[in-house]
Amino acid sequence: MASPLIREGRDSDAAGFIALISGCWAEYPGCVFDLDGELPELRHLASWFAGQGGTLWAAEQDGAVIGMVATRPMRQDEAWEICRLYVSAAARGTGLAHRLLDTAEAHARANGAQRMVLWTDTRFEAAHAFYEKRGYVRQGAIRILDDLSKSLEFRYAKPARGVVVEALDAAAAASAERRLVAILTACVAAGASVSFLPPLDPATARAYWKGVSQQVAAGRIVLLVGWVEGELAGTVQLDLETQPNQPRRVEVQKLLVDPRFRRRGLATELMRRAEQAAARLGRRLLTLDTREGTAAASLYRTDGWHEAGRIPELELDEAGVERDVVFFWKRVA
Ligand SMILES: CC(C)(COP(=O)(O)OP(=O)(O)OC[C@H]1O[C@@H](n2cnc3c(N)ncnc32)[C@H](O)[C@@H]1OP(=O)(O)O)[C@@H](O)C(=O)NCCC(=O)NCCS
Repeated sequence: MASPLIREGRDSDAAGFIALISGCWAEYPGCVFDLDGELPELRHLASWFAGQGGTLWAAEQDGAVIGMVATRPMRQDEAWEICRLYVSAAARGTGLAHRLLDTAEAHARANGAQRMVLWTDTRFEAAHAFYEKRGYVRQGAIRILDDLSKSLEFRYAKPARGVVVEALDAAAAASAERRLVAILTACVAAGASVSFLPPLDPATARAYWKGVSQQVAAGRIVLLVGWVEGELAGTVQLDLETQPNQPRRVEVQKLLVDPRFRRRGLATELMRRAEQAAARLGRRLLTLDTREGTAAASLYRTDGWHEAGRIPELELDEAGVERDVVFFWKRVA
């Protein structure tokens, strides 16, 4: 079968869009599709989005609409909203949702978007997994729609472009778990010096990040994550649980950059923001340790960290060889 054509949506596609959306909603008990009462814009959706400076696309196969997506500028933060992403049940798992989202994100970026935002029904769990895979994290309050479906919606967002680092609260941290598991797993497979040995069992990785989200919720860890061109690509943590007699110290841990996004300055930006966050919390002394001879050790040396010393043969590398670990410290203003 030919791959579906993605083209701009037209008002004359209304019947196709209505069939697609009502079919998707019917998969979720309690979702009421009331076209004339609550969704009259579906009868002329292309002009509806165009009237707001946005664009709508349809994925067409054999004359039928099997997918759709739209994007429109928001009033604040140079943000663009992703709207109405639907793929028919038969076309799922084919990569069509990725192609549709790529199309909408590329359009938003080309029109100056700095941030991408979307709302998704709290019941649409498959969609959450998809958006999380695409680097979106939960941000902001749940939206109550007061409609027949009694909809509650999560707000997801991410930076649209560049190398950007942000701190995550507990809800955002939980929504980032899938990407963080993937990043940790890829880094460990590539020989990272971060406590684990390859192959890293997925359940262990998931349990690790669940624990981190809980620590963020408890205020014991500051979790920073970084995006490269809209992809969630790296992370670092500040562990605030120092001894009572070391109130000014913070331990920097688990600096990780997905191997696909290395040498683009993300780790440097993560560390810069980690230092700022520590300073804001009154933690002027940063400490960390890493295996000698790694990219991380080079980064810390070029980034003004002082070497405190090393312990020979403290940890095993991915080949099971005993390796020296170096301890570093840095003072921030
Ligand atoms: C260490 C790590 C985080 C660096 O991520 P990154 O995003 O590629 O780093 P940056 O692009 O910000 O690099 C900044 C500088 O660090 C140094 N550096 C980074 N990777 C390097 C490498 N492979 N060899 C030598 N120097 C390196 C360079 O000075 C680089 O500047 P340059 O690119 O202008 O030459 C990444 O390699 C990683 O995730 N490693 C595995 C995890 C790990 O060991 N973490 C440390 C735990 S303590």
